[in-house]
Amino acid sequence: MTSLPASQQVAIDGPAGSGKSAVGRRVAAELGLPFIDSGILYRAVALVALQRGTDTSTAKADCLARLAERLRLELLPDRLAIDGLEVGPALYTPDVSEAASRVAEVPQVRAALLPQLRRLARSGAVMAGRDIGTVVLPEARHKFFLNASVEERVRRRQLQQHGRGLRPDAAALRREIEDRDRRDRERSSSPLKVAHDAQALNTDRLDLDQVVSSILSSVRRS
Ligand code: DC
Repeated sequence: MTSLPASQQVAIDGPAGSGKSAVGRRVAAELGLPFIDSGILYRAVALVALQRGTDTSTAKADCLARLAERLRLELLPDRLAIDGLEVGPALYTPDVSEAASRVAEVPQVRAALLPQLRRLARSGAVMAGRDIGTVVLPEARHKFFLNASVEERVRRRQLQQHGRGLRPDAAALRREIEDRDRRDRERSSSPLKVAHDAQALNTDRLDLDQVVSSILSSVRRS
């Protein structure tokens, strides 16, 4: 990777519901860079696997990796298009969320998605995920790790799901978030963790505008 694109790469990592996508989208718009939500790729693999009745556990690693390799990704001006899939509510159901965090445990799936993610960010991007600052774009000039309490993340995810026309139950959402947190942190391949050179932000008491301006001023300072 050359130093020029890396200077235009902003990595935003954090657990489910920490605000990465909302923040990342706004930061990208302000900086004139594309926004890439890497979680969508894991969700797309999970959705296609569920639709085809493919087991989403590590037992079917090769099958899942082939699915991941064959995803056709296209970065459009306003969104990431995946294999003609409508990137909408179908990707955010509880079943797909759970399956996504399972397929994300499979090293062969991660290996298949890695070059595709790097290619998408080649000319600069704001990319959100779990391992962007540690594995996908280790040379990114700007790295942030967003965190918030489980209560706050459940509250935000609930609002986000309402916006997508879904009506999740708070207790079920909390269980889903805690299970995903555990799987994302404990998996052996690219676990969720703070990159040594990332700036960590606890967003419990910060609203969207405050997080966005804190990231923008840090990016513009350096
Ligand atoms: O950010 P999200 O909730 O849409 O991500 C869905 C799942 O994908 C999440 O449980 C973990 C996985 N994921 C990952 O392992 N690495 C990434 N860079 C992004 C997402």
